[in-house]
Amino acid sequence: MTTATQTGLASQKAEFQLDPGAHYLNCAYLGPICRSVEAAGIAGVRQKRSPTPFPTEAFFTGCDEVRDRFSALVGGAPERVAIVPSASYGLTTAARNVRLEAGQRIVILGEQFPSNVYIWRRLAAEHDCDLHSVERPGPPPSGALWNERLLEAITPHTAVVALPHTHWTDGTRIDLEAAGARAREVGAAFIIDASQSVGAIPFDVETLRPDALIAVGYKWLMGPYSTCLGYFGERFDDGVPLEETWISRQGSEDFQALVDYNDAYRPGAARYDVGETSNFILLPMLIEALDRILEWQPSRIRDYNTSLLCGLAQELRDRGWAMEDDDWRSGHILGVRLPDGWDLKSLQARLVESDVYASLRGDALRVSPNVYNEPEDIDALRGVLEAFG
Ligand SMILES: Cc1ncc(COP(=O)(O)O)c(C=O)c1O
Repeated sequence: MTTATQTGLASQKAEFQLDPGAHYLNCAYLGPICRSVEAAGIAGVRQKRSPTPFPTEAFFTGCDEVRDRFSALVGGAPERVAIVPSASYGLTTAARNVRLEAGQRIVILGEQFPSNVYIWRRLAAEHDCDLHSVERPGPPPSGALWNERLLEAITPHTAVVALPHTHWTDGTRIDLEAAGARAREVGAAFIIDASQSVGAIPFDVETLRPDALIAVGYKWLMGPYSTCLGYFGERFDDGVPLEETWISRQGSEDFQALVDYNDAYRPGAARYDVGETSNFILLPMLIEALDRILEWQPSRIRDYNTSLLCGLAQELRDRGWAMEDDDWRSGHILGVRLPDGWDLKSLQARLVESDVYASLRGDALRVSPNVYNEPEDIDALRGVLEAFG
């Protein structure tokens, strides 16, 4: 294990097996898995070679361990955690359990990730609601004004406020404390897609009080693809799941008695779990990934990534490139608008030639490091940008 200093986190590069020479600055796209997470997946595959013995308790213990870890990470009781396969699944689950009446408003943010848009478009059309997207008020820096406009958009007719925590395109920070307080004032459901923040920065459900919080496992949690976790508050206690699974029923531990059908769900959010919840390969990987995040701690991960990016951010700002103010940007994602006239396809090719991996989103370059990165990775990106411009 790489040692950390008492307060700060040291580079965790040795825990990962990124291609030698690759400068991977793209965690907002796909988080790499570390060695121990890979080993957990391989052990899961091997276990299925010959399932002897394979006790029925195993169908439940992994799920419980995932719930425990996620609640340790974001707060709230483990029973409030649901295991789902994607953000779209978790957000659709929440959305389908919100009561909507004609003329009510659903507030979303401009250009938020489609998994938190399409379901609201459908429901707005089905219930004759007004889907109100609060657009960025101008080129960055505009995060402060954008957040103000968001609060103004949450009117007494608002039934739902469905937001990201960190904007996926450029890292703009959404003030969830203020938005949540306003949502509660008008009685709206407060639904958060924190796929681009949980794991990278602290999140506390007791402080931010979302009715539902959804976070994919494959980005900043650095777990496997097709895993996602949801926290569902009391508002969703009596909801209807997307699937009617057997494992979410009370008494489902007794396999012999499964045909004594029981309509009652387990308490809390387990009713929203995906079918075949106990995935014996993905869940051990996710548990291990969550353990590593808990060990590294989101506040230290945040500080590590912030310190990697802050110098580059200032240099690019000094060159006149538009980006969000540091106060309104999450420290782990830096989205910079590239100068007019730059041929983005050539830039992308130049980045790949130099083994530098970041995302181009529209006219912005999105840089998203994590604990396996070191200052040399940022230098490699800086070198490409300087040679290009
Ligand atoms: C903010 C955000 N939410 C969710 C996702 C993934 O959604 P899904 O799990 O529905 O594919 C992404 C992927 O980039 C994202 O950036």
